[in-house]
Amino acid sequence: DAIQQEIEQYEVRTKDDLEQFRMRYISRKGVVTELFESLKQAPAEQRRTLGQALNGLKNAAQAKFDAFSETLDQQQATNTAPPFDLTLPTVPNLTGNQHPLNLVRQRIIQIFERIGFNVADGPEIETDWYNFGALNFPDNHPARDMQDTFFVSKGTAGEPGGDMLLRTHTSNVQIRLMEHTKPPIRSIMPGRVYRNETISARAHCMFHQVEGLYIDRNVGFKDLKDTLYHFVKEMFEPGTQIRFRPSYFPFTEPSAEIDISCQICGGKGCNICKHSGWVEIAGSGMVDPQVIANCGIDPEEYTGFAFGMGIERITQLKYVVNDLRLYTENDVRFLRQFAGQ
Ligand code: PHE
Repeated sequence: DAIQQEIEQYEVRTKDDLEQFRMRYISRKGVVTELFESLKQAPAEQRRTLGQALNGLKNAAQAKFDAFSETLDQQQATNTAPPFDLTLPTVPNLTGNQHPLNLVRQRIIQIFERIGFNVADGPEIETDWYNFGALNFPDNHPARDMQDTFFVSKGTAGEPGGDMLLRTHTSNVQIRLMEHTKPPIRSIMPGRVYRNETISARAHCMFHQVEGLYIDRNVGFKDLKDTLYHFVKEMFEPGTQIRFRPSYFPFTEPSAEIDISCQICGGKGCNICKHSGWVEIAGSGMVDPQVIANCGIDPEEYTGFAFGMGIERITQLKYVVNDLRLYTENDVRFLRQFAGQ
């Protein structure tokens, strides 16, 4: 009975405890074996009951042993799972961020939307008519040359529009808008354009433009100036200078290019502005009455202005990006610099 109590109260916490328990109650040299030995000396009439009691003891010891070793195995299994180390640094948060060209495009859209422009879109694969013809480019204009334009296919006889090409500017959307909308029209048209240029730090065969168009009664050059002054003031550093320079486009008359004081050197002279202190940011002008008429709008009643700028150029000036190729290489070291902008 004393041994039975011992077995019942025995507590096993470690593998060593379990081994001690086994030696004492189960092994051939243990107490239970000893008791079985002494059974031989017991009086014959008691052997049967004593034997039964001893068997009970033996089974109880074995059962307890099995139960203990199972719990120990389980404990070990959970202990070998990797422990939490609360001092380790967290997994870095790899949230993406906006591409710089997208940031600048959104900002341009925001500035113009606030003064009543909406956003329009058009096809990148275009007919000769929408990219050149309707915009007053003469048939022999050098921009049509294979050097500049990616032609996709030859025009089909009897079908309007002429050759298919990748648009070289977003001015095609200006024509499509005027064709389908009754003035007033006040839209900006961001999008991709393509020119057959060798890729370098300064040129790319694909880039982005935003074109603007405002057609209504009594729109004058003062409105063009006002609108672009406002844009420059919103987009660039305070104190940025702006100047209009006479220029030529087949689809505007008069035409002007817009320069701003160089954002990189503050107008003092650097490589970006070729030491002139000025950088060109946009082409613009009053839409040629012939172009308005080409789209089925009466140029006697309506006038308007248009402008077009390169998003890459604006981004270069705003964020000092000195190589156009960076925009399309997708190097995360470049892209991450624009997080939080
Ligand atoms: N389409 C011209 C270009 O790509 C820019 C422009 C747009 C000029 C609208 C005048 C008016 O260079």
